[in-house]
Parts: sequence; structure tokens; C-alpha cells
Amino acid sequence: MTERVIPLADHRYASIVPLVPARPVVADGLVADRLGRPLHDLRISVTDRCNFRCSYCMPKEVFDKSYTFLPHASLLSFEEITRVARLFVAHGVRKIRLTGGEPLLRKNLEVLIEMLAGLRTDHGEPLDLTLTTNASLLARKAAALKAAGLKRVTVSLDGLDDAVFRRMNDVDFPVSEVLRGLDAAMEAGLGPIKVNMVVKRGTNDHEILPMARHFRGTPIVLRFIEYMDVGATNAWRMDEVLPSAEVRRRLQAEFPLEPLDPAAPGETAERWRYVDGRGEVGFISSVTQAFCRDCSRARLSTEGKLYLCLFASRGYDLRALLRGGASDDAIASAIGHIWQQRDDRYSERRGQPQPSPPVQGGRRIEMHYIGG
Ligand code: GTP
Ligand code: 5AD
Ligand code: SF4
Ligand code: SF4
Repeated sequence: MTERVIPLADHRYASIVPLVPARPVVADGLVADRLGRPLHDLRISVTDRCNFRCSYCMPKEVFDKSYTFLPHASLLSFEEITRVARLFVAHGVRKIRLTGGEPLLRKNLEVLIEMLAGLRTDHGEPLDLTLTTNASLLARKAAALKAAGLKRVTVSLDGLDDAVFRRMNDVDFPVSEVLRGLDAAMEAGLGPIKVNMVVKRGTNDHEILPMARHFRGTPIVLRFIEYMDVGATNAWRMDEVLPSAEVRRRLQAEFPLEPLDPAAPGETAERWRYVDGRGEVGFISSVTQAFCRDCSRARLSTEGKLYLCLFASRGYDLRALLRGGASDDAIASAIGHIWQQRDDRYSERRGQPQPSPPVQGGRRIEMHYIGG
């Protein structure tokens, strides 16, 4: 008999094999967690690798040549991802976001998109299928992504000044190439396009106004994200967070803004528009104004662990069920049961003792591993 070799990188974060409950939790789209929150949004990480080294996410000193990424055999296959995604849809998921690392680095991603685009809700509707990317490969891939069935993209971009941007991605990647990617996405019809800018005080906050001026008057929605204390490697400090209220104050000094109603409950971004009608901006304020109350987001890691919060320190190993011969009903039931137990609300409790302390030896997951 051959011995099964379990790669080390798979065990970097603590995980537990999910329980298949004796009393089935039927996937009727109505599952709710302990705080009454439904399951509407699934974020699937398709690779833990990235070609950038943004200091707030994958600092070069940690993610260097000696860092071990997940080996190929650990990754969920496209068939496995689609099978799990279908069960999440049966539980009520309406939006699927592909993330990374950098998702466009996953080989043949278009094939997965085509498979996911075929999923339907129980009312026969297609899903809101989207992807978060650093856009380094977008100019090359936008048309193929659209043809495969991707609806829209969100692009990460932290500044327009080339020197600032090169320093922030820390691999000397030019801003012009990201802008070319954005153009290609527009041309391919991958909208509404959003641009996410993580603001770090003292690093790129002087880029707030140039970014706003650049995207004002275009259909692209620029969103400012408060720098978060996610993971354990980015040496986060509160004094590097620029509160959204301050970002808004700086914008309003040049462009009057008025608030918009939320488009959907549980949204990450607070939406505002320019009073002169030249577009919309968003503020994602996880640090100063947590939005856990309506958080309906589940996260699936590259090797098939289910996480209930961006700040979790343990996942539920769905791959063990998938590869262990469990039936669809059993896996759906396990997912439902996990969701019913969920009480995570890290951002709301930041600074206070957390109700579910990290398991022994468990450390908080990193953003490159679980996506945004
Ligand atoms: P849209 O459907 O396009 O509005 O997307 P979204 O706002 O759900 O997602 P997006 O992936 O663009 O999220 C933007 C950023 O918000 C991420 O990169 C994270 O920095 C942050 N974020 C997203 N989801 C969560 C969350 O559940 N908790 C916290 N604390 N931050 C989140
Ligand atoms: N704080 C806030 N957002 C972050 N992201 C990654 N790390 C952080 C952090 N520390 C988000 C960025 C990026 C996406 C992939 O993840 O929005 O665009
Ligand atoms: Fe930067 Fe996104 Fe890559 Fe993280 S995953 S290093 S935020 S480009
Ligand atoms: Fe959801 Fe956790 Fe983010 Fe709160 S901190 S919004 S519970 S992912």
C-alpha cells in the first residue's frame, strides 16, 4: 500500500474535518447563522500565489524564495470547486467571487468560469459571477474571461503615480499596464467595474485625490479601503489607518458628495455620489465602522477549507469530505451545519476578547491565502 503524503503547506493553518450531522440540514436556501445572517456570498480562492508583493498583504520579507506555496495536488480541481459551489448555491448563495492570491495566475481559469457560469439558482437564475484581480494579466485575458461567462471584475489599484505604485506592489510593476487592463475590461464589457484602493496613511494617501479625479466621470466606481489588521505578517499599525471619514473629508473639499442607499444588505462599501452627477465612490471601513452585522460571506480556500470570517484562524476541511466519498447531500448538510454554528464578527469586536479564540497552534489566515 502506498502511503499518502500530506504536504506541509496544507497544515499551515489549523483545520477541522466537518461533521456530517445526524439530522440533515437540507439546502433550502434558508440557512442562517447564530446571528440570523443568511449565506449569500461565496468567495473562492483559486491560488495562493501572486506576482505582486503588496506590503499590506504579502510582504517580501515573509513571502520570499523560501516560502512554500500549496503544491498542485493540494488544490481543489475545477470539478471539485464547481461541485462545492453548486451546494453553496442550493444553500442560498447568489454571488460568487473568484480571488487569489492573483486568480488570473491559475491555469485555464476560463474553464472554471465556464463551469461556474452554468450554475443556476433554484429559480433558474444565473449567479453574479465576478473576480478580484491586480489586473497585471487583464489586458491579455479580458476578452476570454468575458467569453467564458464572467460578468464583471474588480481591480486592485493603490495609486496612479508610477513610483508610488511600483513601491506598493514591490515588484516594480508599472501602473500603465494596470490601466491597460482596465481599458481591456471596459472594452470587453466586464462591468460595472470597481477599483479598490487600500489607503495607508503616509504611503499612498496623497494619491486619493488624483485617483478620484482620474475615475470621476467614468463608469468605474472607485472604493477606498481602510488598511486592515488581517493576517499576522503585515505589521499593521493603527496609525497607518486613514479613517474613511477623513478620506471623505478630503474628497469633499474638492468635490461635494451625497450618500446613496445601500444596493443590498450586508454590503462592504458605503456608497456616495458626486453631487454634480459625475459618478459614484465607495468607502470600505472595516476598522472604523465594522459591517459584520449583515455579513453573509463564506470563503473557500484554494485547498478546500471553508472559512467563516476573514479573520478566522481555522477552517473546515471540505476537501476531506469531497475526496472521502461523501455524497452531495452529506456535504450540503455539513456546510449548513457549519453555517448554523457561525457567530464570527471579528471587526465589530476588534480590540476586545474574541468569543472563539484561536485554536491551539492556530494562527490567523493571510489575505493572499483567502483573497479579499
Ligand atoms: P461588490 O459585490 O463588487 O460590491 O464586492 P464586495 O464589496 O463584496 O467585495 P470586494 O471583494 O471588492 O471587497 C473589497 C474589499 O473589502 C476586500 O478587498 C477587503 O479588503 C474588504 N472586505 C471584503 N469582504 C470583507 C469582509 O467580509 N470583512 C472585512 N472585514 N472586509 C472585507
Ligand atoms: N487591508 C485591506 N485590504 C486588503 N487587501 C489585502 N490586504 C489588505 C489589508 N491588509 C485587499 C485589497 C486587495 C484585495 C485583493 O485584498 O483590497 O485589493
Ligand atoms: Fe497585492 Fe492582491 Fe497580490 Fe495581495 S493578492 S499581494 S493585495 S495583488
Ligand atoms: Fe464578516 Fe468577519 Fe469581515 Fe465581520 S470581520 S464582516 S464577520 S468577514
